[in-house]
Amino acid sequence: MVVPTKRHSVLKEYGRLAPEYDRRWSFYIEATLRETLVRLRIQPRDHVLDVGCGTGMLLEQISAASPQAQLSGMDPSAEMLQIARGRLGENVNLHEGYAESLPFTNAAFDVVVSTNAFHYFRDPLGSLREIRRVLRPGGTTVITDWCDDYAACRVCELFSRLVNRAHFQIYGRDACQELLERAAFTAIRIDRYKINWLWGLMTAMAEKDRLHLDNTALARRDVGKGGCPASRSSLLGVTERLALVC
Ligand SMILES: C[S@@+](CC[C@H](N)C(=O)[O-])C[C@H]1O[C@@H](n2cnc3c(N)ncnc32)[C@H](O)[C@@H]1O
Repeated sequence: MVVPTKRHSVLKEYGRLAPEYDRRWSFYIEATLRETLVRLRIQPRDHVLDVGCGTGMLLEQISAASPQAQLSGMDPSAEMLQIARGRLGENVNLHEGYAESLPFTNAAFDVVVSTNAFHYFRDPLGSLREIRRVLRPGGTTVITDWCDDYAACRVCELFSRLVNRAHFQIYGRDACQELLERAAFTAIRIDRYKINWLWGLMTAMAEKDRLHLDNTALARRDVGKGGCPASRSSLLGVTERLALVC
C-alpha cells in the first residue's frame, strides 16, 4: 500500500537533491551502473524501461551501447526527470510515475532495469508485480540496490532512516529472492558484491516466464498461501491455469 505522505517525502528529497545528485554521488553511481551494465543483456531493438531512472545516467549508457534500442524511463521526481531530459534529448521517453503503479500497458518491454531505487518503493512486492506485468513473456529484469547482508550497509540504512524520510527499506539476498518468487519471476539469480569498504550491494536478475499469470491470479495465489483450506488452494490452482496468457 502506497502512503501519500511518504510519496511526498520522496518528491521533497529528490526535488532538493536533483541539481547536485550526479556530482555528489558520482563514485557510487559510476560503480553501481557498471555492475548493473555487465549483467544486462539488451538486444539491438529491445524496448527497455528504467524504473526510478533519476537523472538518466543509466539510460545514457544503454543508449550509447545499444543505439537502436527503444528507451523509456520513469521517476516520480519532476526535478530528476528534468535533468534526465537535458541529458537524453527527445529520443528517450520519460514519464512521471511510481514503481507501484507503472504507467505502461502490459507486456510493453523486453527488459526492465532499476538501480539504487528499490529501497524507496513503499510496496516492494506490488512494484515487482508491476515490473512483471509490463514485461513481455520471456522478458528480463535487472535490479541493483543496497544489500542488507553487509553490516556496513545496515549502518548506512540506520543513518538513512534518521536523516532521510523518503527512505523505506533495504533487503538481503533471501528476502529479495522471496519477493521475486512471490511476484512469480523465474530464473532468479542474485549477485552480492562490494564496491568499496562501505557499500555492499546486490544485483538481482530474473525472467518473466513465457507462460505467465496475470496480477489478479497472482494475488489470488497469495491469498491461497495465506492459509486457504487445501481444496480451495487446488481450486485456485485451476483458476490460475485458466488465467495463463501466452
Ligand atoms: C538514488 S536515486 C537513483 C537514480 C538512478 N536510478 C541512479 O541509479 O542514479 C533514487 C530514485 O528513485 C526514485 N524513486 C523514489 N521512489 C520511487 C518509486 N516509488 N518509484 C519509482 N522511483 C522512485 C527517486 O525519485 C530517485 O530518482
